[in-house]
Amino acid sequence: MSSPVIIERATPADAETLSEVAAITFPLACPPETTPEDTAEFIANVLSPQRFTEYLTDPTRTVLKAVAEDKLIGYALLNAFAPTDPDVIAALGAELDNLIEVSKVYVLPDHHGGGVSAQLMTAALDAARAGGATGAWLGVNQKNVRAQRFYAKQGFTVAGTKTFLVGAQLHNDYVMLLKF
Ligand SMILES: CC(C)(COP(=O)(O)OP(=O)(O)OC[C@H]1O[C@@H](n2cnc3c(N)ncnc32)[C@H](O)[C@@H]1OP(=O)(O)O)[C@@H](O)C(=O)NCCC(=O)NCCS
Repeated sequence: MSSPVIIERATPADAETLSEVAAITFPLACPPETTPEDTAEFIANVLSPQRFTEYLTDPTRTVLKAVAEDKLIGYALLNAFAPTDPDVIAALGAELDNLIEVSKVYVLPDHHGGGVSAQLMTAALDAARAGGATGAWLGVNQKNVRAQRFYAKQGFTVAGTKTFLVGAQLHNDYVMLLKF
């Protein structure tokens, strides 16, 4: 029997470990043509321990961690501020002000397909509802079919498209939306 997974709010003490998990899992979300240099630049600029410390102390963000046998095996980052990307604004329309962005759901590969990601998403959506949000949105790479399938199972549907800069390369994302 697999060990129980606990989902809880991460704290600044988790910044180093979150960065390590992010460095392993972020490349899995990128299309195959992404260069190692672009991936490394993104990890250094956006997923460093310093950046996670910022996310963990920002009152407009929530970081949830999944823990099994005292080991951090996945995380989700929620943003409660309104998006500024015109493509996202166009996709989300009038709902915009009351939505939470599920910015990242990343789980270590050994734990894919085991329900951990669903537990993280359930906790993320519960937190969004508790904060008064009327829905959640996210961006996902158009070639990341596994993540799209996962989000669709959670009730998200495609609302539009946007781009996402990884290093020097612009990636094509879907914007997905779930109304509560
Ligand atoms: C995305 C992620 C959180 C989803 O968690 P998961 O545990 O893999 O999700 P699940 O197994 O519940 O669901 C994935 C679905 O995609 C399917 N799938 C797996 N590989 C696939 C592929 N190459 N093409 C299409 N579908 C695929 C699975 O069969 C499953 O569908 P099913 O339940 O109908 O059989 C996890 O895979 C992950 O952390 N990936 C790496 C990081 C990432 O991409 N994060 C998202 C960034 S937006």
